[in-house]
Amino acid sequence: MNPRVLLGVNVDHVATLRQARGTRYPDPVQAALLAEEAGADGITIHPREDRRHIQERDVLLMRDMLNTKMNLEMAVTDAMIVFAEQVRPQCVCLVPEKREELTTEGGLDVDGQEARIAKACERLARIGAEVSLFIDPDPAQIDAAVRCGAPVVELHTGEYAEANTPEAEEKAFKVLLDAVAYARKRGLIVNAGHGLHYHNTERVAAIPGINELNIGHSIIARAVFTGLKEAVRDMRSVIDRARGPHLSP
Ligand code: PXP
Repeated sequence: MNPRVLLGVNVDHVATLRQARGTRYPDPVQAALLAEEAGADGITIHPREDRRHIQERDVLLMRDMLNTKMNLEMAVTDAMIVFAEQVRPQCVCLVPEKREELTTEGGLDVDGQEARIAKACERLARIGAEVSLFIDPDPAQIDAAVRCGAPVVELHTGEYAEANTPEAEEKAFKVLLDAVAYARKRGLIVNAGHGLHYHNTERVAAIPGINELNIGHSIIARAVFTGLKEAVRDMRSVIDRARGPHLSP
């Protein structure tokens, strides 16, 4: 089952380690370049409102230096939209953001804030960015994403990845499977991510219609032991195993 599923590598947690000590290292820009060399199809970064990991400097340097594409994850705020207008990334992924959360918990409620999100999609499309909305695998949210004019959705895989029992995992997987099929039917490009690691990604990569997986924490965690390039290549192999070998990158 081809075509190849794309891998976006999220390097936020390289910056988390740097910020923990206020040092100059490790540098997420260096991580992004190594990830690209190892086969990443794009680099995802999320400058959060509290700047706990990625800083503006990282975004600006990567915008100049990346050879693939930047996927800028951001909250739907005027300040972030103005920043994106300055950076002009190839892709923007709109996500919900709460200061107190450990990571992005749950998808964006597009259905509940349609006017605001539609306006953000319109402004970001004007700078040529491909806009995706990070949503739960829920048909109502998919319908709302279509109404907002977003060409892409990223389905939140957290419920599947964090399931505690095989039954819960099956249930969450089925929800994901149906949501991918529904979003494709509605004409959307479908990405997915959150909580994916070396043991739960193959099933998701095998879902027909998935375009790209965005993966961060598990890759950066493995890199501590194997180095980043090997960690990215290992994830690439997991994804390719799901679809069969590809002939060219
Ligand atoms: N996609 C989105 C929209 C996210 O917010 C995150 C987490 O920053 C990811 C993908 C990557 O998740 P993880 O770090 O769990 O692989």
